[in-house]
Amino acid sequence: MENKLEEIKKQTVDAVRSAKTADELEDLRVRVLGRKGSLTIILRSLGDLPPETRGTIGKKSNEIKKIIEETLESRLNELNETSLDGLVTSEWIDVTLSSPGATGTAKTGRLHPISQIQYEIEDIFTSMGFEILDGPEAETEYYNFEALNIPKHHPARDMQDTFWTEDGNLLRTHTSPIQVRGMEKMKPPLRIVGPGRVFRYESTDASHENTFYQVEGMMIDRDISVSHLIYVMKELLRRIFKRDVKIRLRPGYFPFVEPGFELDMNCLICGGTGCSVCKQSGWVEVLPCGLVHPAVLRYGNIDPSQWSGFAFGLGLNRLIMMKYGINDIRHFLSGDERFLVQF
Ligand code: DAH
Repeated sequence: MENKLEEIKKQTVDAVRSAKTADELEDLRVRVLGRKGSLTIILRSLGDLPPETRGTIGKKSNEIKKIIEETLESRLNELNETSLDGLVTSEWIDVTLSSPGATGTAKTGRLHPISQIQYEIEDIFTSMGFEILDGPEAETEYYNFEALNIPKHHPARDMQDTFWTEDGNLLRTHTSPIQVRGMEKMKPPLRIVGPGRVFRYESTDASHENTFYQVEGMMIDRDISVSHLIYVMKELLRRIFKRDVKIRLRPGYFPFVEPGFELDMNCLICGGTGCSVCKQSGWVEVLPCGLVHPAVLRYGNIDPSQWSGFAFGLGLNRLIMMKYGINDIRHFLSGDERFLVQF
């Protein structure tokens, strides 16, 4: 019996030491220490042995069991460690290696020039106490025309043809509906700007696009006059062009302002002496604006005998074109990287 025990011990320990996988170890364990394992059977039959040998054999069996268990465990640890080592080598990556971008092949993203100028303008107006509002691109006729004092059969509707949806709504032709939505939501005094994308049904050329961007602005308070409008516009242009600019107002017609103006700025290319950009006039048209028409205030539930205001509509594409001397509005939506990487 003792020899048998020695043999089980030797065979098992040798097999365990040379086992290559955890599965092999588990097999060995079952074969020796499992319910029907060779050592288990001996341990179970101890009671049948004559009392003289029972003690020594029992002791020896338990010692061997312990040795086998320990060997199994230490071999399993060894195997686990080597497989981890293997993973470390096979799946090793050098996290300190520089990305392809650093060697000049990968391209980094950037903001579209329209977004850049939009954010810049939002900052300028926020610093002057204006709030930024949003409005839907698919608008109702009421907000796009009616409440801006452009009734159904008014010829001014012809100036802004657009895309209509089957349920009678339209893609907004300007950001001016944000004025009305703003007045409805907020009580005067109020100062708001509303940037956004607008649409016109027209054929495209170097200065016309079917989709472009505007920023609408409106200030309503007691006794607002043209001088407030001039101050805010001059401050805006000074901060965008980073120098003092001269402006002038010419009469301009928009049904939602009275009086309405076209605001011109002295040509920054020639400094006002006349060049091809300003068509020798020394002035370039920048934005339309005016004092809010009393009818529009009433549409916004504001009493025109108590409150007055100014409004303006800034064309973002045109502004960027002036700032950087860009000659074709179609570049903006072309998706052409050669254009976009310049900003
Ligand atoms: N919404 C006008 C357009 O797109 C621009 C405009 C003119 C806006 C005068 C205004 C304004 O707020 O006062 O043609």
